[in-house]
Amino acid sequence: MLQISFSTQTQPTGGALAILVPEGDARSAVFHAVDKATHGALSRSAEADGFKGKDGTSCVVLAPSAQFERVVLVGLGKPADVDAWGAEKAGGLAASLLSRAPAAALAVGDLSGELAAHVALGAVLGAYHFGLYQKTAAEEDKKHRLADLAVLGEHASVSEALWPSLQAVARGVVLTRDLVSEPANVLTPAEFAERATTLRAHGLEVEVMDRAAMTTLGFGALLGVAQGSANEPRMVVMRWNGGKEGEAPLAFVGKGVTFDSGGISIKPAAGMEDMKWDMAGAATVTGLMTTLALRKAAVNAVGLVGLVENMVSGTAQRPGDVVRSASGQTIEVLNTDAEGRLVLADVLWYARDRFAPRLMVDLATLTGAIIVGLGHEYAGLFSNDDALAVGLADAGAFTGEKLWRMPMGKEYDALLKSDIADMQNISGGRAGGSITAAQFLKRFVGETPWAHLDIAGVAWASKAKNGQPKGATGFGVRLLDRFVRNGFEQG
Ligand code: BES
Ligand code: MN
Ligand code: ZN
Repeated sequence: MLQISFSTQTQPTGGALAILVPEGDARSAVFHAVDKATHGALSRSAEADGFKGKDGTSCVVLAPSAQFERVVLVGLGKPADVDAWGAEKAGGLAASLLSRAPAAALAVGDLSGELAAHVALGAVLGAYHFGLYQKTAAEEDKKHRLADLAVLGEHASVSEALWPSLQAVARGVVLTRDLVSEPANVLTPAEFAERATTLRAHGLEVEVMDRAAMTTLGFGALLGVAQGSANEPRMVVMRWNGGKEGEAPLAFVGKGVTFDSGGISIKPAAGMEDMKWDMAGAATVTGLMTTLALRKAAVNAVGLVGLVENMVSGTAQRPGDVVRSASGQTIEVLNTDAEGRLVLADVLWYARDRFAPRLMVDLATLTGAIIVGLGHEYAGLFSNDDALAVGLADAGAFTGEKLWRMPMGKEYDALLKSDIADMQNISGGRAGGSITAAQFLKRFVGETPWAHLDIAGVAWASKAKNGQPKGATGFGVRLLDRFVRNGFEQG
């Protein structure tokens, strides 16, 4: 992970440097100093490039003098409009453009100490790269990869004081991205659970349930999905008790399908490799719990992940099979590719039954239909509780991990009626596919305030965007960390 330091030093004398430039005529002292030292190269480049400091824009000035190998101007937008997410985007863009230098500086000018800390968070996440399986390339690459970044700003001491808690967020996001990036032959349910146990080092209590334990718990829905795979299923329960003793926890539940072939209702070959990241919900819950522990959040929280592989084999479940969930409700499995809801049914019910949480939020790459509806900008938000939905949407707007609330209702629920069981796992047609999936989950949460985030469209980016690299996004860690900070750590 990129190492960050904060300093008030405002006169960089050379090397690789990024300068945040607000939209308009005001340029920072660092800009003027370096412009002068390079005999006007920065202003000439900006002029030639039409660079005006608009957010999302940049201008790279190569070797403007013998001392400076690279100066990157990064647009910040109108100063009054810069918020935490805007700061993170700018930091990410700066880091990605500096990435060939091992050490660099990033001048943030008179930006507030808090926003400067968010610039640093964005930079760490913008510099992220999953290079585990490119050993030789990675070694070669290391020489050219940003490892140390000095953030230069007027309010460095404020940023420095805030940094540990934001670095905890960065670590959580990085863990999530690492898990999501791993191929399914490496990250089996057992391996995922094994990695979760290493989080005990941060003070999390971690329990792992295997097939036998889940059989005892009556997890017929989850185990039905797992039965076609040679890789044994797991459930992991992670607890962070930083709040008042005995206070009911917040519960976070994740879909962890380490590979989703579709089962007997098999998926088409094209793009099936994407289904290695069908465990992104579980990875987000794991990253979030790590963040809460690292920053010693004053809250009680429990994270539960259901880990299975959905495969095709002689032991795989068939369309038409009827399974009994831990709640006692029976389910007719009409499509084995609608497996995420089967996994979540048992884990949600268990979370509620064992922990009686204040609220539950589940995250799942649940439906292709949410991508049709919302694309790759918003995750779908479904909830039985208006206040919870508003709290989540606000945290989403703050962090840029945006949520769009979708409707629910008994008309949709009626589509799950089965001729043979208490419900079927798909509705007849494709209409409202994300909503009927949410209605299915709702049958397992009782009266608990609950929200479901369908992250199928946002867990993976096919190209770099907003200063973040392509691949795993870690969507949801920043959002839920902010949700917890906003509403559950006072007093
Ligand atoms: N994991 C998929 C959903 C998905 C699709 C995630 C694309 C990420 C990208 C889920 O298990 C699934 O297969 N859903 C089906 C449901 C259908 C059979 C009712 C779908 O969306 O097609
Ligand atoms: Mn599926
Ligand atoms: Zn799936």
